[in-house]
Amino acid sequence: MTKVTMTVNGKSVSKEVSGNTLMTEFLRDELHLTGTHVGCDTSQCGACVIHVDGVSVKACSMFAAEADGAEVGTIEGQANADGSLNVIQQAFQDHHGLQCGFCTPGMVMTAASLLKENPRPTEHEIRDYLEGNICRCTGYHNIVKAIMAASGQDVSGIAAE
Ligand code: FES
Ligand code: FES
Repeated sequence: MTKVTMTVNGKSVSKEVSGNTLMTEFLRDELHLTGTHVGCDTSQCGACVIHVDGVSVKACSMFAAEADGAEVGTIEGQANADGSLNVIQQAFQDHHGLQCGFCTPGMVMTAASLLKENPRPTEHEIRDYLEGNICRCTGYHNIVKAIMAASGQDVSGIAAE
């Protein structure tokens, strides 16, 4: 066992973990932050995307010990300070960017990284950036629309799907 210490959504946490504890297991089982979903065992679906030191990471593809000393952000830390949905979450709701919601935490976390890097992405740039996030329900159209809206672009001319 190894002791790991990290900041998760602004709070310092310290736990003993085994060397092969995945970050998904650490967040879900140790910290009970179950918004980070596990949708595959091949690092393909993106439902587990979190931020580690400001960078999007698939939490299933790293060990908790690798995050020792890091600043970690999960979907639970994305809402505004007053508990209201942040601009990306609100846009997903407004533009029906989710159906079952399983992929949504990963989509929101990936979208946050995209908008940090590229505040006004084109539709093509959004689709390209979401390459590592799979959605089985929406057909992606409304997710892309929601992210464009979250970036402040006028999406009134884009039909819903
Ligand atoms: S659970 Fe991490 S990519 Fe699918
Ligand atoms: S909303 Fe169901 S998997 Fe994306």
